[in-house]
Amino acid sequence: MPNFWKKINKPILALAPMAGYTNSPFRQICKAYGADVVYSEMANATALSFGGKKTLELLEFNKTEKFYVVQLFGNDPKYFKKAAQVVSAKIKPDGIDINMGCPVKKVFSNGGGAALMLDTEKAREIIKETLKGTKLPVSIKIRSKVGKTTAYKFIKKIKDLKISAIMVHGRSMKQGFSGEIDYLQIKKVKSLYERAVEEKKESDSFFSSTVPTILANGGIDTPEDAGKMIEKTGANGIGIARGALKKPWLFFQTKQYLETGEYKEFSLEDTKKAALRHARMSYQDKGKHSVLEMRKYLLWYFRGFEGAKDVRKDLVKVESLRDIKNVLKGIKK
Ligand SMILES: Cc1cc2nc3c(=O)[nH]c(=O)nc-3n(C[C@H](O)[C@H](O)[C@H](O)COP(=O)(O)O)c2cc1C
Repeated sequence: MPNFWKKINKPILALAPMAGYTNSPFRQICKAYGADVVYSEMANATALSFGGKKTLELLEFNKTEKFYVVQLFGNDPKYFKKAAQVVSAKIKPDGIDINMGCPVKKVFSNGGGAALMLDTEKAREIIKETLKGTKLPVSIKIRSKVGKTTAYKFIKKIKDLKISAIMVHGRSMKQGFSGEIDYLQIKKVKSLYERAVEEKKESDSFFSSTVPTILANGGIDTPEDAGKMIEKTGANGIGIARGALKKPWLFFQTKQYLETGEYKEFSLEDTKKAALRHARMSYQDKGKHSVLEMRKYLLWYFRGFEGAKDVRKDLVKVESLRDIKNVLKGIKK
């Protein structure tokens, strides 16, 4: 199976995984605005290994979402091979990712997510089992630091495994979801592989063909943030999470900015158009039920301006596409 990560022009712009948010319609709108790769919400590997119908439904995708990566989470290596087999056969994404950065108590205290950075042996087993269950490229998502384990230290211990991509969230587990980004740690992960390639260059063609693509993630809210992230880390691409909830068009603006140094600003009218486009995509995918789900996305689009509070009160009550259109029409600066 060809490694799609190698085929995409760099820098790669990826929609990072977000539980409760990166569903198919949201991934579609991000793709429409230029995301190169989109990640699913994290999916329970144990449930999938038993063929979990609901979990499989959550992972279905539309062909416009290429390149699509399914993210698995779990704490027990023995379920990952079967989970990878089920996902590869039934969903057929472009890649499979393993969550090694989630700090949420439910996941972490069970030994999954970020806890895997503290248990290298288990992390290695999980990667190996996943690789056994699929021919798709397997990637991991980690944090810059968990406890005393830095991303660099962790990757050093697993770098012999055939990982196709690594997304590094440049914040420690302790930081959670806010605060400074540790650019240096991401850079160190990138250079670790560069050095390894240098050392093994002529002798080991297998190794150099599996050098992972490094994606840097955390705090990218503007095209300038994206430029700074790439410059400071040397990463092959970036992962955007909450920035895309506020502005799915951030992918489009970032691409423009990285190519020309400038980008198109989006006005309030553009924002309304984008929100409606998203609502329609969502409606097409999920019908009436999508409108209730759309409420939480609308709240991300319309925040931080004068009068936003009143608008948001109306947005949480919408019950149809017509309601959405009417509320949007009424939004003035
Ligand atoms: C609501 C929410 C849900 C998230 N769910 C996941 C997830 O399922 N898997 C994962 O690896 N990271 C998850 N993350 C972390 C993001 O992928 C990302 O690493 C983090 O938000 C930092 O990026 P940002 O500053 O661009 O938001 C989630 C973050 C948020 C805010």
